[in-house]
Amino acid sequence: MEVFAYLIPYGLEWLNLIVRWLHIITGIAWIGASFYFVWLDNSIRPPAAGSELAKKGVSGELWAVHGGGFYNPQKYLVAPAELPKELHWFKWEAYTTWLSGFALLTIAYYFNAQAMMVDKAVADLGSLQAVGLGIASLVVGWTVYDLLCRSPLGKHDFWFGVVVFALLVAASYVLTHFLSGRAAYIHVGAMIGTIMVANVLMLIIPGQRKMVSAMAAGGLPDPVHGQRAKQRSVHNNYFTLPVLFIMISNHYAMTYRHEHAWLVLAAIMVAGVFIRHFFNLRHKGRLEWRYPAIGVAILLAVAVAIAPPPPAARAAAAAGPAPASQFAKVQAIMAQRCVSCHAAAPTQPGFAAAPAGVMLENEAEIRQNAEKIYKQAVQLKAMPLANLTNMTDDERAQLAAWFESGAK
Ligand code: HEC
Repeated sequence: MEVFAYLIPYGLEWLNLIVRWLHIITGIAWIGASFYFVWLDNSIRPPAAGSELAKKGVSGELWAVHGGGFYNPQKYLVAPAELPKELHWFKWEAYTTWLSGFALLTIAYYFNAQAMMVDKAVADLGSLQAVGLGIASLVVGWTVYDLLCRSPLGKHDFWFGVVVFALLVAASYVLTHFLSGRAAYIHVGAMIGTIMVANVLMLIIPGQRKMVSAMAAGGLPDPVHGQRAKQRSVHNNYFTLPVLFIMISNHYAMTYRHEHAWLVLAAIMVAGVFIRHFFNLRHKGRLEWRYPAIGVAILLAVAVAIAPPPPAARAAAAAGPAPASQFAKVQAIMAQRCVSCHAAAPTQPGFAAAPAGVMLENEAEIRQNAEKIYKQAVQLKAMPLANLTNMTDDERAQLAAWFESGAK
């Protein structure tokens, strides 16, 4: 129906909202459960030797109070003597997080790849190439990771971590050199998320199934399944904070628009790993403050390293053109470079409404947003989005001169 065609971008906007909402809800359920079980595993203490519990095969237990009740979880070293009738599994939190995440990636990025994924200043890709690269990164990421886990290196936790991290940094480097900064970041996140979910789907759950069916057949489960599942689950644990940062990274152009965006990402991921490590040790009763201290120091160093340069000499700007003609120039720049998206009715394909509610069509709107314009177009160079409208450095300098001399 031709007449309704204009509603498609609007409908996509709603789809985006619903799927993003779902993604956050399932992600919280998954990572929340994962944090809880890691905490549980690290916090349980062995029962007294010779006690009833010890005789039952319980290797650790704890007491907790929550929501008005007392809880007493117990962990069995290999398995309980008898399988309980009802056994709870944790897997759909992970699966739905991936499914909704991939749907969101498709709606937000793949449907509008020219605007959302391609930055002509980085690489002049076609939409299909950009989408192909994005999807390939997920497949290659999992394949390489899984092979490494099964290789001899997989047995050395520390060195394995170092190599996987180096490969992720290499992936960030490659992706930031082919895609727009935000698309590159989100694909590193999607790559890690895919590895995490594939760990659940391909190793952790099948391993647990084998344990359960061995017991149902009256035998003892082979502990190797438990060990393999545990290894993957430890990796997932260290992936959580980096991936959560990447999920919110698109709000912070100062990171993904930086000329060494891949390094910024690498540093922030390391900081996340150090901070996660602190919590893992803390649950075991060891307070090692040097880990969060290193994490915070890295974040501070990044903040200082990517700080915007000080405003160009104000005196020089004051000697610039008379305010009236200066504003006319600014308005002309807005009309040419920004209004295709930032209008009540954007003409840029794929945009249903003014992004972030910012309209730049007339003098009042421009003046009202002067500070934001300066921040986004001059300091962060986050706008125009992926410089889709080919804004020049000279134009940015004119905006800077206008704002720094008082936005007259
Ligand atoms: C291709 C479309 C497009 C063009 C062209 C564009 N923008 Fe944007 N703009 C966006 C999108 C999308 C967002 C929302 C960004 C987000 O969600 O992180 C946005 C957000 C903004 C914001 C709000 C940022 C915030 O977080 O408050 C400002 C200000 C802005 N743009 C200014 C500009 C200026 C100035 C120009 C021209 C120099 C421009 N934009 C050109 C798409 C565009």
